[in-house]
Amino acid sequence: MKQLATKKKAIANNVSHFKRAVCLLPPLLLAAVLYLQFQTATGLFSSISRIVSQPAAIDDLVDRLRASATFLPLKDTRERSETWFISTHDDVSEPDGEAKNLVFPSAASAGRLLCLAAPSRHDGTRNAYALAWRDALPHGAALRPGLSFVSETAYDHSNLWHGLTALVPFASWHARSGCRARPARWALFHHGEVRAGMSGWLTALAEAATGANMTVETFDAPGPVCFEEAVVFRRNLEGLTRERLLGAFDFMRCKARAYCGVDASSAGGTDPTALRVTLLFRSGGRAFKDEVAVTRVFQEVCARVTGCTVAAAHSDNVTFCDQVRLLSATDVLISAHGAQMTNLLFMDRNSSIMEFYPLGWRQRAGGGQFVYRWMADRAGMRHEGSWWDPNGEPCPRSPDILSCYKNRQIGHDEAYFAQWAARVFAAVKERKARRAAEVPASERRRKAATCNCS
Ligand SMILES: *[C@@H]1O[C@H](CO)[C@@H](O)[C@H](O)[C@H]1NC(C)=O
Ligand SMILES: *[C@@H]1O[C@H](CO)[C@@H](O)[C@H](O)[C@H]1NC(C)=O
Ligand SMILES: *[C@@H]1O[C@H](CO)[C@@H](O)[C@H](O)[C@H]1NC(C)=O
Repeated sequence: MKQLATKKKAIANNVSHFKRAVCLLPPLLLAAVLYLQFQTATGLFSSISRIVSQPAAIDDLVDRLRASATFLPLKDTRERSETWFISTHDDVSEPDGEAKNLVFPSAASAGRLLCLAAPSRHDGTRNAYALAWRDALPHGAALRPGLSFVSETAYDHSNLWHGLTALVPFASWHARSGCRARPARWALFHHGEVRAGMSGWLTALAEAATGANMTVETFDAPGPVCFEEAVVFRRNLEGLTRERLLGAFDFMRCKARAYCGVDASSAGGTDPTALRVTLLFRSGGRAFKDEVAVTRVFQEVCARVTGCTVAAAHSDNVTFCDQVRLLSATDVLISAHGAQMTNLLFMDRNSSIMEFYPLGWRQRAGGGQFVYRWMADRAGMRHEGSWWDPNGEPCPRSPDILSCYKNRQIGHDEAYFAQWAARVFAAVKERKARRAAEVPASERRRKAATCNCS
């Protein structure tokens, strides 16, 4: 019995020795590491102090760094169009779920800034980029302070549909920064060619979304431009998750309404079951031939639905904020195919769109005619279908849509329009009534009033 106790004690002793050794191990290792670092540091220190004692040696080193910044063509024609812009760098979907982007400076750029030498508005292969450290920018370079948004698109920064596709990732990224990252300037490229601006509607939307006036870098001064901070989107929406896409549209809608002073407390209308129909007419190309008759059809159907009202407007002489206000108060948008439909962004989520085309589009316009179906889907709206005018003079000798059919005017079919509208209005009315019953007014107002900066 005693023997056993002694044995136990011995084991306990051994365990405590072992524990002490384990406890001592980290400080010993730390001491070893510090010693080694000290050795390295003193080595480094002595070489630094050697250089510091010779300012000419520093200048020489910085000069060599400046000269080492290597400019490569902004448009690398060996690559596919999605990757030819700054082709030597891989992009990431960061933060998680965002569209693919490049950030400078970053660990991936070894702390270097993005510099662009971009004199050409016609040939992206004549424009160039390089990376450089802030203290050793290329000779003659100008430093642009703050954050710059750099956008490359294979499409267009003027067309509302394409421009919006280029804008969405920036709006999402900005929201994701807690709305803190505001662009001091933008640099816009199309196939690597410099663009001097976006169209007015897109500029207003970008300013509303980011809370900063849009200053566009035009690269007019000679010499490269280096950006203190830059985020580059060059693949439009690629990488953006469905959830973040819907979130980006919610965010832009909310910011645009706030920018235009739309009263969030009346979002959804003072009567949450009201049905607000808007006819957004075009003038000239793709206008209805008989606006009065078209208006009458929809007014008659509307009159049979409780709480239904019809508003009509022309898209060509309304300001950005007029459009935001009008569409914020719209549950059903009735409009001919065209850029003005981009305003569907400003409707409440789940609102409806009815679209109209002149003769020829269905047969000859290809997939591009469905862009507003795609947009409705991206923005969380319901595209309720399209009507293609079956009547009109044919264009036998013009195989493509642009030459003859594109800007035809549009007729109407009273019976068809009435039936279609009755179906859509009833469904929207029912959806709104259900939502009004399910979601308390205070909750709806709270959601409408806060733009999700997260
Ligand atoms: C934007 O520009 C306008 C007029 O140029 C100016 O009044 C306004 O203060 C600017 N806004 C910001 C946020 O800089
Ligand atoms: C807007 O356009 C419509 C039709 O083109 C016209 O009747 C109306 O007077 C215009 N309004 C303004 C403010 O120019
Ligand atoms: C939109 O409709 C979907 C499905 O019908 C529903 O789950 C969602 O809550 C609606 N959202 C809004 C904001 O009305």
